[in-house]
Amino acid sequence: MASAAPSESKFAANVIIIGAGVFGLSTALAIANRHPSTSVTVVDRCTPPVPDGSSVDTTRCIRWDYPDPIYAQLAKQSQLLIEQDPELSKHFFKRGMTFVCNGVPSRFTQGWQDQYNLTKDLAQPEHLVDLPTRETLFQRIHGKDAKPLNRIVLGREPQWNVAYTNKEDAFIDAEAGIQVYYDRCLQYPSIRFRCGTEVDHINIDKGIAKGVVLADGSNLQSDMVIVAAGAWSSRLVSLGSRVYPIGHEVVWFKVTREEEMRWKAMSITTNDSTGLNIFPPYRGEVKVLRRSPGVKNSITIPKPENRSETMEISYPRTLVTNPTDIIPANAEAAIREDLREIMPSLASRPFDRTKICWISTTPTADFLIAPHPSVGGIHLATGGSAHAWKFVPVLGDLVVDSIMGNLSKELEDKWAFDKSGQSSDQAAPRMDGAPEELRDVVRTIQSHF
Ligand SMILES: Cc1cc2nc3c(=O)[nH]c(=O)nc-3n(C[C@H](O)[C@H](O)[C@H](O)COP(=O)(O)OP(=O)(O)OC[C@H]3O[C@@H](n4cnc5c(N)ncnc54)[C@H](O)[C@@H]3O)c2cc1C
Ligand SMILES: *[C@@H]1O[C@H](CO)[C@@H](O)[C@H](O)[C@H]1NC(C)=O
Ligand SMILES: *[C@@H]1O[C@H](CO)[C@@H](O)[C@H](O)[C@H]1NC(C)=O
Ligand SMILES: *[C@@H]1O[C@H](CO)[C@@H](O)[C@H](O)[C@H]1NC(C)=O
Ligand SMILES: *[C@@H]1O[C@H](CO)[C@@H](O)[C@H](O)[C@H]1NC(C)=O
Repeated sequence: MASAAPSESKFAANVIIIGAGVFGLSTALAIANRHPSTSVTVVDRCTPPVPDGSSVDTTRCIRWDYPDPIYAQLAKQSQLLIEQDPELSKHFFKRGMTFVCNGVPSRFTQGWQDQYNLTKDLAQPEHLVDLPTRETLFQRIHGKDAKPLNRIVLGREPQWNVAYTNKEDAFIDAEAGIQVYYDRCLQYPSIRFRCGTEVDHINIDKGIAKGVVLADGSNLQSDMVIVAAGAWSSRLVSLGSRVYPIGHEVVWFKVTREEEMRWKAMSITTNDSTGLNIFPPYRGEVKVLRRSPGVKNSITIPKPENRSETMEISYPRTLVTNPTDIIPANAEAAIREDLREIMPSLASRPFDRTKICWISTTPTADFLIAPHPSVGGIHLATGGSAHAWKFVPVLGDLVVDSIMGNLSKELEDKWAFDKSGQSSDQAAPRMDGAPEELRDVVRTIQSHF
């Protein structure tokens, strides 16, 4: 029977997006471009750039070195769009990225090798620099006369042993980048923001989402709710073990003008396995982060899909809620020990400041872009797993494709709620070990100084 246009080609008339990070803002823009008659309301706890959002920081790496060809291709395409974007490119610094491993057979060294091989296939040879020894790596940062500490002084096996630099990789000022995306959203009459109050819960009636209830008690109705709340998402929908929030340590050191000049040619330098990630000086600071086993913050909440039951989740505890927190002592010790080998002059310098950055982590480091498995009218767009920022120009279209049901089969499977099989996190590897309970290990400015 011939009928009117199939309803699945129509987009919801009213959409609420929870979260104004890279997932939320990119999705708002994609909906506004592709479905201009849809009214979009973006709700966030704070006005973007949200100070404790994962998407907001001094710097984020933009790289297309991945052991997985799907992310490598997507990242390459996305980086080109960032470079061609007249506003984003102002905050983009092509300083290269050096990937290091210790060379001892392990899943990290294997991942490093896979990534290197794939990068060689995709890169122009003149963009790659081999750093086959400790010395060549150390000299790439500190100059050609510099010498790494010898083993005896170091007093342990060296870890920063084998590396390559991809000169095409870059970092971006992540806060400025989010400001660009926020300003861009404000140009669209179909996008509205509701910032400063959080969503208390999604209003679910007989298995269908009807909108959201804000913490101030007000009700916002919609035909579709998109959960793009990053590490906070687990409070809004039951994500089980598919996505769990983990906090990672980030520290900043003040550096002198002289050091800034000395490290001018330095690339982002990362130990691929642990993810100790050292950024070149930017605005008088060197930032160091560690993709450690991290910390969790366990709380008990009403189960989103049935509020007469409860469940335990990990939930971000950040500089917005706990402004005097500083990173745990064991994290500080590990960062300093690692720096002693690769950036000796920073190893015992006091931190200028520290923070715990909360990530919506997934076991395979694959995003979660899919419908809610049991409630109608909810789409999930999260699971950034410490590597989603660089995809900001393409994420929104992928989310809209997923809502329309025409994501490629390969990506649909990769980002599905029910993923089977694989458990490798090679796209953004993290050290082995379970996260510690933050309240047991956190220090505060009062207790520390
Ligand atoms: C230390 C660290 C290093 C990283 N390094 C890189 C890198 O080098 N390159 C890269 O590409 N990626 C990197 N990432 C990952 C990248 O930053 C994240 O994957 C990405 O920013 C996640 O974006 P998001 O939109 O999911 O989350 P967010 O940016 O956190 O956005 C979620 C938003 O939801 C809001 N929200 C939450 N709950 C509610 C509620 N109930 N009501 C209203 N609003 C709510 C929050 O306020 C927040 O603004 C890194 C992440 C971290 C933490
Ligand atoms: C660096 O990477 C190696 C594996 O390649 C890992 O075993 C080691 O712990 C890391 N080094 C440090 C000091 O973090
Ligand atoms: C990577 O390439 C090297 C040299 O071409 C080869 O010997 C090695 O087997 C490859 N490794 C992987 C993991 O593909
Ligand atoms: C919600 O949970 C309560 C308590 O466990 C249970 O009695 C009820 O049947 C549940 N409701 C639905 C719709 O599953
Ligand atoms: C999905 O369909 C939309 C048009 O409805 C199109 O713009 C988009 O490119 C399609 N995506 C894929 C992966 O085919």
